[in-house]
Amino acid sequence: MAAVQFGIIACSSVARRRFLPALKLASGAQLARIGSRDAVKAEAFAREFSCPKHGSYEAVLADPQINAVYISTPPTLHAEWVHIAAAAGKHILCEKPSFGSGDEARKAVAACRAAGVRLFEGYAFKYHPQHALVHSLIAAGRIGTPRFFSAEFTYPRPPANDMRLKPELAGGVFHDSAGYPVAAALMQIPSASVSVQCEQSRDAATGVDDSVAITLKFSGGEIAHLYAAFGVNYRSRYAVAGTSGRIEVERAFAVPTDKPAAVTIETDSGVEKLMVEPADQFRLMIEDFCATISSSVAANNNFESDLLRLQSVMDAAARSAREKRSVEIEKL
Ligand SMILES: NC(=O)c1ccc[n+]([C@@H]2O[C@H](COP(=O)([O-])OP(=O)(O)OC[C@H]3O[C@@H](n4cnc5c(N)ncnc54)[C@H](OP(=O)(O)O)[C@@H]3O)[C@@H](O)[C@H]2O)c1
Repeated sequence: MAAVQFGIIACSSVARRRFLPALKLASGAQLARIGSRDAVKAEAFAREFSCPKHGSYEAVLADPQINAVYISTPPTLHAEWVHIAAAAGKHILCEKPSFGSGDEARKAVAACRAAGVRLFEGYAFKYHPQHALVHSLIAAGRIGTPRFFSAEFTYPRPPANDMRLKPELAGGVFHDSAGYPVAAALMQIPSASVSVQCEQSRDAATGVDDSVAITLKFSGGEIAHLYAAFGVNYRSRYAVAGTSGRIEVERAFAVPTDKPAAVTIETDSGVEKLMVEPADQFRLMIEDFCATISSSVAANNNFESDLLRLQSVMDAAARSAREKRSVEIEKL
């Protein structure tokens, strides 16, 4: 099968640090053209990653060789570029958070479906094999019935010029980071999420929200407590407690490619630490994306429904924070 030819929309920090190094190693994918608003930056990235072509975002989308694009602009611009890329007939791997509201997400998914292209929201962390291990331990009944999920994603305050501190670029921790613990809960709790309560605190200097606490309730009575913040010591973990045991993931959302991961399971029989081989979650995400868009099977993956499901929880959480009450999650 021919390799998927990728175009890059934005020479971002995450493209340089994680996506492009992984793309160079991924099977079934090839870097074809780098796009930037700044021609000099596009050329420098093209040189660094041995890419044959570079230019503007528009040049990437007009290139008939390109099958798929990776969008990593600030989140406020994702929807606009997703629509333009879909109209150009390109499959889309869009960085998280792909959209700011359920309405925006539904319109984008509809536009991609109408154009016959796939749309994936780039929560790369889900591809680390440690999460599949947790899933299989839960499915095998090793901790009994899951009852409680907890997660924290906290990190130091971003530098002053970072988009996360800019209200005009929809900065703040809710939009930037709360999706991680929510996505992890949706991945590991098999029941449907039914309601959410969300509280936020604000950074006095910039006005963006700098901490978010979310309580998520599920149809089987399971509860998740989720916390995301910046200006708090680094932590990136989750735990699932069940009727007869508990599983903990020490480093859940950003795992270095050269470090093993550890999953701890605690039951009446004792505590076991299971090591997971180092893995590049971006490379695994790119390979799955390419295999899916290259497949002749219409939809062998739930990219769009995963995106809409997460967005429906985030929408209800945003409303909960605004209205200071628990909010039911829209059924999809
Ligand atoms: N999956 C992950 O692990 C992960 C990690 C970090 C970030 N992210 C996500 O990736 C996206 C990018 O984050 P980042 O930290 O890499 O951002 P960044 O370094 O600030 O890059 C954003 C890029 O967007 C382009 N851009 C277009 N219009 C812009 C505007 N008006 N203002 C500023 N930049 C503009 C710029 O590229 P050009 O100048 O080349 O056009 C800029 O370099 C976000 O959605 C973020 O949440 C994901």
